[in-house]
Amino acid sequence: MPIIAPSLLSANFLDLQADCKMLNESEADWYHLDVMDGRFVPNISFGPMIVEFFRKATNKICDVHLMIEEPGKFAEQFKNAGADNLSVHIEACPHLHRNIQQIKSLGMKAGIAINPHTPVSALSDVLADIDLVCMMSVNPGFGGQKFIPHTIEKIKQLRKMIEEKNLKVHIEIDGGVTLENAPSIIAAGADVLVAGNTVFKSADPKATIAQLKKL
Ligand code: DX5
Ligand code: ZN
Repeated sequence: MPIIAPSLLSANFLDLQADCKMLNESEADWYHLDVMDGRFVPNISFGPMIVEFFRKATNKICDVHLMIEEPGKFAEQFKNAGADNLSVHIEACPHLHRNIQQIKSLGMKAGIAINPHTPVSALSDVLADIDLVCMMSVNPGFGGQKFIPHTIEKIKQLRKMIEEKNLKVHIEIDGGVTLENAPSIIAAGADVLVAGNTVFKSADPKATIAQLKKL
């Protein structure tokens, strides 16, 4: 069964309490929290202060996806805010190995996020050191975009790499996941589905989460 990680970016920020309550009562596994700085991506979302509110609102895993430059400067703040998983973008990290060590030494699970243009081969020398690959299936910055079909091929390649190295690394797919394309995403080898609009814009978000979970 896949891990379901609804992206709170698509929640109703005027009534987050209701959305958190819905998620807590649902079969969702992780809260996916998208942090954007307006520099690495062309949008600004929220920072550690808001992550801390989500932390207090749930016992579920807080999966923080940093779409920011110089993530090393903020890792400790996100740890203090309650992040369980912290993912940094490979494209933003000239000293990626150091970032991973930092995240792990702070006691969080370490994730690497990769943009659609980044080949999975770029991960080969750090794959053994991480817990999670957040593979972007849209260009990061906004919810509600269309899934890039080439991602399926990349998932298969990454799953093969993980198996060959005999590792336990989650493959999380982020962007444009729907009830229609989720089966082929899972069949290709992904085990974590991020879903923003598919969950929060659905008529019955809890039922949609349950449907994703059943795949
Ligand atoms: C995009 C974010 C995603 C996004 C997913 O930059 O990283 O997590 O919120 O939203 P949907 O599922 O609507 O594409
Ligand atoms: Zn994300």
